[in-house]
Amino acid sequence: MDGRQRLIDDAQEMLRRLEAKTITPAPGQMRLPSSAYVDPDLFELEKRNLFRRVPLMLAASCELRAAGDYKTMEIAGIPLLLVRGKDGQVRTFLNACTHRGSKLARDCGRSTRFTCPYHAWSFGLDGGLIGVAAREVFGDVDAEASHLVTFPTTERAGLVWAILDPAAPPAFDVFLAGFDTLLQGFSFEKWHYFESRHLKGANWKLAFDAHLDFYHLPVLHRETFGAKISNLAEYFYYGPHQRLGLVTQADHVLEQDDLPSLAGRPQEEWPLDTLLFGEWIIFPNVSINCFYKGGRGVIISQILPGAAVGESVTVQIFLHEQPPEGQQIADAREMSDFLGHVVGEEDLPMSLAQQQVFASGLLPEVQFGRNEGGIQHFHHWLERFVDAPAGAPLEGIMAGGRAGKVVGPAGFEPAT
Ligand code: FES
Ligand SMILES: [Fe+2]
Repeated sequence: MDGRQRLIDDAQEMLRRLEAKTITPAPGQMRLPSSAYVDPDLFELEKRNLFRRVPLMLAASCELRAAGDYKTMEIAGIPLLLVRGKDGQVRTFLNACTHRGSKLARDCGRSTRFTCPYHAWSFGLDGGLIGVAAREVFGDVDAEASHLVTFPTTERAGLVWAILDPAAPPAFDVFLAGFDTLLQGFSFEKWHYFESRHLKGANWKLAFDAHLDFYHLPVLHRETFGAKISNLAEYFYYGPHQRLGLVTQADHVLEQDDLPSLAGRPQEEWPLDTLLFGEWIIFPNVSINCFYKGGRGVIISQILPGAAVGESVTVQIFLHEQPPEGQQIADAREMSDFLGHVVGEEDLPMSLAQQQVFASGLLPEVQFGRNEGGIQHFHHWLERFVDAPAGAPLEGIMAGGRAGKVVGPAGFEPAT
């Protein structure tokens, strides 16, 4: 896929939508059993058939800038340790000592090795065993078999992806469906990490649904975004991934959505940051939004399922194109506070309330409208992965019987 041409095509479509002040509606509405958000058996299937099967975007490359930089995290009860090695490569390990399973590292930082806090075995940045405490009395240790459990990992577009199955083939290309080529436009590998926030929420899909519609913006977020903000999202689909463009109806234009300025200018001059408009959704659990307060920045939101069906953590990672300086630092922090408030005080309490209702079993279904095509798209793809039997290759699931098809913008299933 020619990345810039695809971005131009999408921008042209957005200009038509802005002109018409309408969106392309999904082909139909959709209903989903509300048990999907509270069923522990389904959650087990999601963990096995989705979160341990597909590449997950785990970090921004700039969080792990130098050799020895590491970060820990937990996804659906799996503790992870991400480390940049001396060779410049980022690796993803199970954050577990191979002696008896103690957690090796906490939080994030920089280190030259990882020494287990239980009996002091130590491991190098490449995950190899480099020291066994009191080896003379412990006995022989097979260093190769004691290497940290390692997951297939890649860096694309300045972001780190890993598959949480040590034996999985590294099928990153087939899964990303060219989306990384478009994300490359940000050049995130040159950006700077500012800060992160962790916000507790309900079931991960409830937390994530809120990132997939603009329908709720002027209602739930009237105190923060204002009641005049548009509620219309134009959805662009790239395999399971997607992008949302805000179709404004009134004169209320978001600072970052400078699309109208493109009209009448030759396409070669269309600036890349304008072409990168909108919200970017990396399936199954990440969204990226741009802002300009405190300098050009993005918030990367990772919705991490917890160990139980009703628990998730939304991690907000704030990156800036240039490190904020002087007044920009306070502005950047104000922006982080604002987005922490929007999600932590408005979206997530809403999803906790929904979950309470669904757990009662008294509201059997939820509905998604033709203006919520992106949520439909997400749930269809989710179902496709969850229903695919264990061991089914990613290629087959992605192709859905039609190799190489990218799901088109008009609906979930493309016409063939
Ligand atoms: S569990 Fe790590 S050294 Fe024993
Ligand atoms: Fe929201």
